[in-house]
Amino acid sequence: MHRYSQITIAIHWLTAVLVIVAWFTAVSGPDARTDPSYVHFTVGFAVLLLVVPRLLARWAGAARRVEDPQRRWLDLAARSGHAVLYLLLVALPLTGWYAASRLGVPVSFLGISLPSLAASVQGAPGEIADLHETGGTLILWLAGLHALIAIWHQFALKDRTLERMNPLAPSDLTQDA
Ligand code: HEM
Ligand code: HEM
Repeated sequence: MHRYSQITIAIHWLTAVLVIVAWFTAVSGPDARTDPSYVHFTVGFAVLLLVVPRLLARWAGAARRVEDPQRRWLDLAARSGHAVLYLLLVALPLTGWYAASRLGVPVSFLGISLPSLAASVQGAPGEIADLHETGGTLILWLAGLHALIAIWHQFALKDRTLERMNPLAPSDLTQDA
C-alpha cells in the first residue's frame, strides 16, 4: 500500500478548504456586479494555482497506483471521479474569471490586476457564468460523495485508503507521488 507524498497531501487538503471557502463566499444576482467578493476571487485563483503543479506532476508520472488488480472496476471508477474533480478545479476558476469579466468587475489576485477575458455586458453575464454557478455547487456534492467513498474504503473494505491522504498516518505505507 502506498501513501501520497506530503506535498500532494498538503495540496489536497488546502484545495478542499479553499473550495469550501469559495462556495461560502460566492455572490450572485445583482450583488455579483455591485458588491463582488474578492475573497471568492482570491481563493478561487489559489485553487487554480495549486491544481496546475499537481496535474503536471501527475502527467510526469506521479499518479496514484492500482493497489488491487482484482478490483479494476473500482480503480476505474476512482480514476473517473478524480478526473471530474480535476476538471472542475481547472474550469471553475476560469469560468469564474470569465463571469467577472462579463459583469465588468475588475479581477485581481494578491494585488496583481488580471486582464478581462471578455467584454462586459449590461444584462445577464451569459451561459458560461451559469455553468460556473452550477459547477460551483456540483463540486461540493461530488467532493461530499468522494469523501463518503473514501470513508467506505477505509472502514468497509479496510484498504487504508484514507490513510493515503493522512499526513500523520503510520509510516508503514510506502510513499507514492
Ligand atoms: C472539495 C473537497 C475535495 C476535493 C476537490 C478533493 C479532490 C481529490 C482529488 C482530485 C483526488 C485525487 C488525487 C490524485 O490522485 O491526484 C483526491 C484523492 C483523495 N481524497 Fe479528496 N478531495 C476533497 C475532499 C476530500 C475529503 C473531505 C476526504 C476525506 C474524508 C478526501 C479523501 C481523499 C482520499 C483518501 C484520496 C486518495 C484516494 C485514492 O488514493 O484512491 N477528499 N481528492
Ligand atoms: C474553486 C473555485 C470556485 C468555486 C467553487 C466557485 C463557486 C461559485 C458559486 C457556487 C457561485 C454561485 C453563487 C450563487 O449562486 O449564490 C459563484 C459565482 C460567481 N463566481 Fe465563483 N467559484 C470559484 C472561483 C471563482 C473565481 C476564480 C472567480 C473570478 C475570478 C469567480 C467569480 C464568480 C462570479 C463573478 C460569480 C457570479 C456569477 C453570476 O452572477 O453570474 N469564481 N462561484
